[in-house]
Amino acid sequence: MEAGGYAFGEERGRESERLAAVQQAFDGPTRLALGEAGLRAGWRCWEVGAGLGSIARWLAEAVGPRGRVLATDLDDRCFGDAGATGNLEFRAHDLTSDPGRAEEFDLVHARFVLEHLPGPEAVIARLARALRPGGVLVLEDSAGLDFAVEPPTDALAGLAPRWERAGASVGWSAAYGRALIGDLRAAGLRDLRGFEYRRHAPGGVSWEHVVSGLERLQPELLEAGVSEAELGQATACLRDCTRQITGPPVLIAWGRARPD
Ligand SMILES: C[S@@+](CC[C@H](N)C(=O)[O-])C[C@H]1O[C@@H](n2cnc3c(N)ncnc32)[C@H](O)[C@@H]1O
Repeated sequence: MEAGGYAFGEERGRESERLAAVQQAFDGPTRLALGEAGLRAGWRCWEVGAGLGSIARWLAEAVGPRGRVLATDLDDRCFGDAGATGNLEFRAHDLTSDPGRAEEFDLVHARFVLEHLPGPEAVIARLARALRPGGVLVLEDSAGLDFAVEPPTDALAGLAPRWERAGASVGWSAAYGRALIGDLRAAGLRDLRGFEYRRHAPGGVSWEHVVSGLERLQPELLEAGVSEAELGQATACLRDCTRQITGPPVLIAWGRARPD
């Protein structure tokens, strides 16, 4: 496993492809949530575990020249682009060992990051300390691996428990989103809000992020008792444009630091 405990970080080329598919699939709801959480021009934002950086770049546009965005990640795959107005800075940072600076940000956002960390509760408490009074922490995480498929097939349904076990064996808690609201509350954040959603789309490119996630976890899935035939069926189902697929739930939740 790599520094910071992120098991999906090796084989950079493949991981970048997977992260591009993640952005494609999830940026829409993220932007909606950030707008609902109150994002406005002039804000100072921290995009944590920025991946390929699409949300960091979008935030830099949204906050404009009077605002600024710090984007951090273990990996430097998205670094080197200062944003259209020079208000975007990329920095290497390991969340598990470096708390970041206190009381600096109007907004801190992390998508699909906490679910990869040991002790996410402690990390949330540290992220909360990086908020200025009244600032908002927005977190997004997977809330399980349950799919629904029409016409019905067992190709994905039978996989969920073993898939979650395989994820857990490399430090990925695929159901961590279920704990998000409680952990935000435990970190002292107030006015908790959010939504849970599932994507619906025909099989095909919309599910490439899932296909590449399965590929990345293949050794652990086999170890967890999934056969190669089952993996083949799952992939075929995800790519089958005659099927309508409902993806697993994602929880987006936010809370505010106590005002002065
Ligand atoms: C599943 S990816 C999500 C990327 C991005 N947030 C997105 O949704 O497109 C998880 C990201 O968290 C980063 N990450 C994992 N562990 C980390 C740590 N300890 N400190 C900082 N970043 C970390 C990874 O390098 C990766 O870019």
